[in-house]
Formats: sequence, structure tokens, C-alpha cells
Amino acid sequence: MTILLLFLLYSIVLSVALGRAGYRARPARSANAPGPALGRVLVVGATGGTGRELVARALDRGLEVTALVRDPARLGIEHPRLRVVRGDVLDPASLEDAVRDAGAVLCALGHRRYFGPSRILSAGTRNIVGAMERHGVRRLVCETSLGIGDSAGRMGLLYTFFLLPVVLPFYFWDKTRQEQVVAASGLDWAIVRPGALVDGPGRGRWRHGAAVGSLLWTVRIARADVAEFMLDQVTSDELLGTATGVCW
Ligand SMILES: NC(=O)c1ccc[n+]([C@@H]2O[C@H](COP(=O)([O-])OP(=O)(O)OC[C@H]3O[C@@H](n4cnc5c(N)ncnc54)[C@H](OP(=O)(O)O)[C@@H]3O)[C@@H](O)[C@H]2O)c1
Repeated sequence: MTILLLFLLYSIVLSVALGRAGYRARPARSANAPGPALGRVLVVGATGGTGRELVARALDRGLEVTALVRDPARLGIEHPRLRVVRGDVLDPASLEDAVRDAGAVLCALGHRRYFGPSRILSAGTRNIVGAMERHGVRRLVCETSLGIGDSAGRMGLLYTFFLLPVVLPFYFWDKTRQEQVVAASGLDWAIVRPGALVDGPGRGRWRHGAAVGSLLWTVRIARADVAEFMLDQVTSDELLGTATGVCW
């Protein structure tokens, strides 16, 4: 009984800490203003679940795409408008070529090293921001997650009282730092916080905003829909300077 109570206390303290440390909303800078004309987008994490959807859907939208990958063989997409650049977000020099001609950067970085302290998301994003600043690239759309900042608890009970405290505390702590890095940058940024991600076709519709998610149930969304939502933020200024939850 004591152990259970201590565990519940730890889970609650973790969620409060993730809530306080992550980005908390301020008013959006502008509403519904048209974004800049963008020729090329850089997708970071292009070989991942969301990243592949971003690449494919950006190409469908007629954009020029650069895919930053550690291993080109893992991408599995070829297209005349796709440029593949080998790089590692933890190696700043390897980002220069990819960032140089980008009009916007879409970051869908992730990893599976759950059970130990990690700074891949935050340090990697800091390097991306640095490269963008050096090359005058202004717009960053970054995928994080519901459950941090002012969305703490909104991944539902399963996450709040099991997955976050047992499996993902280090990972989510790094995600809060990643949000801090983005929000502290002087870029035109938008943080996108999806619910639990699923593969397969999107529905083409979703709910988004600061109050989406559930304190009880796990809310979900397809990576395909997250990719569409992120791409919308490349050309819309509506959600600049905000962290926005998105789920079905
Ligand atoms: N899974 C969920 O239910 C869920 C829910 C909410 C939010 N999210 C978040 O959404 C994001 C995307 O998730 P996902 O599952 O779609 O992606 P994912 O399949 O985990 O892909 C992650 C991508 O990041 C790349 N990457 C990792 N370390 C890198 C490095 N050092 N340099 C360059 N690239 C690197 C990976 O490249 P390699 O192929 O080379 O490894 C891969 O392309 C993640 O941050 C995830 O935590 C996930």
C-alpha cells in the first residue's frame, strides 16, 4: 500500500514537473496571416514514422524536399524533387548542407533509448536551431507530444500513471527541454503536440488547440494526419509561437 501511494505521488510529481518545465502558452503572435512563400522544406527525422509521412506529403503538395537522414537506405522514397542529405543532429557540421537552402524546417526527431538520461531531442534541436540561425532560415515546426507543458496529464491515465513514470520519464524530460530550446529561439516556430501516434491512413480531420487530449483516455492520431497538420504550419502564421495539441 505504501509503495502504491509513493508511486502515485511520484507519477503526479512527474506530471507536475513536466507541466511546469515544458512550454506554457502565450498569445499567438498573429492570426490567420498568410505565411511566407516557401520553396523547399527540410525534414529532420525523415526515416521515422512521422518523418516519412512528412516527406511523402510535402512532395504531394508540390514542395521541394530535403530529407536529413543518418542512413539513406532507410528512407525508401525517391523523387525528382527530393534531396537526401546524410547527417546526424548531434553533429552540427553535418547539418549545414541540409539547412542551407531550406525555407522551413520540420522536425520529427525521435528515438527508442527510453531507459536512461538522454539529450538527443534537446541537444539535436539546439543544433538545428543553431544551423537555421546561421543560414537565416526562419521557420521551425517541431513535433513533441501531449503530456508536457500546459498539456500535462492530457495523454490520459495510462500515460500519466504508467507509461510516463515507468517507461518514459527520461524521454519526456528531454522533450520538455526540446520545447524550451524551440521556444527560446528567435525563430518563427510552432510546436505540435500529438496524442499517441498510430500508423496507417489518416482521417484528414483532427481536433487541435491548447485544450485537446483527455485526462482519462489515451487520445490518438495517425502520423499521416500529424504530417498534414505540421505541413499546414509551414505556410500559416496562425499558430506561430504556440504549442498546439492535435488528436482525433
Ligand atoms: N509514439 C507515439 O505514440 C508518440 C506520441 C506523441 C509524440 N511522439 C513523438 O513524435 C516524434 C516522432 O515519432 P515517430 O514515432 O513518428 O518517429 P520515429 O519513428 O521514432 O523516428 C525518429 C526519427 O528521428 C531520427 N533520429 C534519431 N536520432 C537522430 C540523430 N541523432 N540524427 C538524425 N536523426 C535522428 C531517426 O533516424 P534513424 O532512422 O536513423 O533512427 C528517425 O528518422 C517523436 O519525438 C515521438 O516521441 C510519439
